[in-house]
Amino acid sequence: MSLNNYIDLRSDTLTIPTSTMREAMANAIVGDDVFGEDPTINKLQEMAAERVGQEAGLFVSSGTMGNLVAMLTHCQRGDEMIVGDQAHIYIYEAGSSAAVGGIHPRSVPNQADGTLKIEDIKAVIRSQDDHFPITRLITLENTHNRMGGTVLTPAYTRAVAEFAHGHAIKLHIDGARIFNAAVALNVDVKQLTQDADSVTFCLSKGLGAPVGSVLCGSREFIRLARRRRKMIGGGMRQGGILAAAGIVALEQMVDRLREDHANACLLAEGIAGIPGLRVNIATVQSNMVYFELEPDVPFDATELCRRAGQHRVKVLPTGPRRIRAVTHCWVTREEIAEAVQALGQCVNE
Ligand SMILES: Cc1ncc(COP(=O)(O)O)c(C=O)c1O
Repeated sequence: MSLNNYIDLRSDTLTIPTSTMREAMANAIVGDDVFGEDPTINKLQEMAAERVGQEAGLFVSSGTMGNLVAMLTHCQRGDEMIVGDQAHIYIYEAGSSAAVGGIHPRSVPNQADGTLKIEDIKAVIRSQDDHFPITRLITLENTHNRMGGTVLTPAYTRAVAEFAHGHAIKLHIDGARIFNAAVALNVDVKQLTQDADSVTFCLSKGLGAPVGSVLCGSREFIRLARRRRKMIGGGMRQGGILAAAGIVALEQMVDRLREDHANACLLAEGIAGIPGLRVNIATVQSNMVYFELEPDVPFDATELCRRAGQHRVKVLPTGPRRIRAVTHCWVTREEIAEAVQALGQCVNE
C-alpha cells in the first residue's frame, strides 16, 4: 500500500489516483470547457454544488486557485478581508489576495480549535470613513491545517455567517478538507457549507484525485467567478480527464476518510507513548497529527525526519521542533503501527 516504498505521512496531497480513477480518466467523455462543453466537468460541478448545498460549481486547478478566484469575485481592489493569522490563505498562498487582487488582508488570531472569535472579527470591521478600506469578506478554514486538522462545527459556521451577513460582509470557506470535517462530525457536509457565500474544497488531498478543486456558490457568483478564473489563466479545455477522477473521488472516497481519522488517533496515541515526543491529543480531530520534540531531545525536527526516512517513514518538519504527520488512503493501519515503532527508535538512536 505504501508510496514508493515509504510510509509517507508528510501530506495527504501525496495520494495517487486509484485504479478506478485511472479507468474513469481513460474513458472520460470530454469537450472544450471554455465553451462550457465538457460533459464530465459539468457533471462534477453539478455534483459538487449539490453536495455542499450551493447552486453552482466551478472546477479549478487547485485549492489556491479556488480561494483566489473566490477572493477576486467577492472583493474589489482596495477592499479588505478578515482572515485567521494561521490560515492557509494568509500564510501559504504567496500573498495572492494582495499580489493579484489588491485585496488587503486583515488578520485576527486563530484560536487553538481553528476558530476566529466573533468579538475579534467585530473589533476589526471598518467603520464608514474615507480613510479606511471597506471590509468585504471573512474567510474561515475547515478543517484547519496549521491548528492541527481541527474541525469547525455547523453551529460555529452558522454563527459567523449570520454575523457576516448582518454586517453586509460575505463569508468564504477554505474547505480544502471540508469532507474530513463532515466525516469527523458525522454530519452532512451541507451543514458546514450552505450558510457561506462560497466554499472551495479539494479533490486532490484525502479524496485521492490527482488534480483539482471545486469552488461553489450561487449561480450568479459562479458566473462572475468563471470570468476571474479565465483572467488568471485557469480556463481548462478537455479537463474532463481530470474531472472524471474527481467524480470517483466524491462517489467513493468520502466515507472511507473515517479510516484515516481512526489511523490518526492510533498514530497520536502511539506518539504520546514515546518518551521525548509530545502530542496534544485534543487537536487530533481528523487526519492530521502534529507533534513536538521535548526540550531535552538533543536534535531538531529536521533531524528526526531524516532519521525517520532511514526507517522507511516520511514525516514533515513544520517548525524547529514541530513535526506533521497526515494519514491518507495509501497508509494502512499496520503501517501506522510500524511508523510508531520507527519514530520511537529515531528518538532513542
Ligand atoms: C487548508 C488549505 N487550503 C488550501 C490549500 C491549497 O490547496 P492546493 O495545494 O491545491 O493549492 C491547502 C493545501 O494544502 C490547504 O491545506
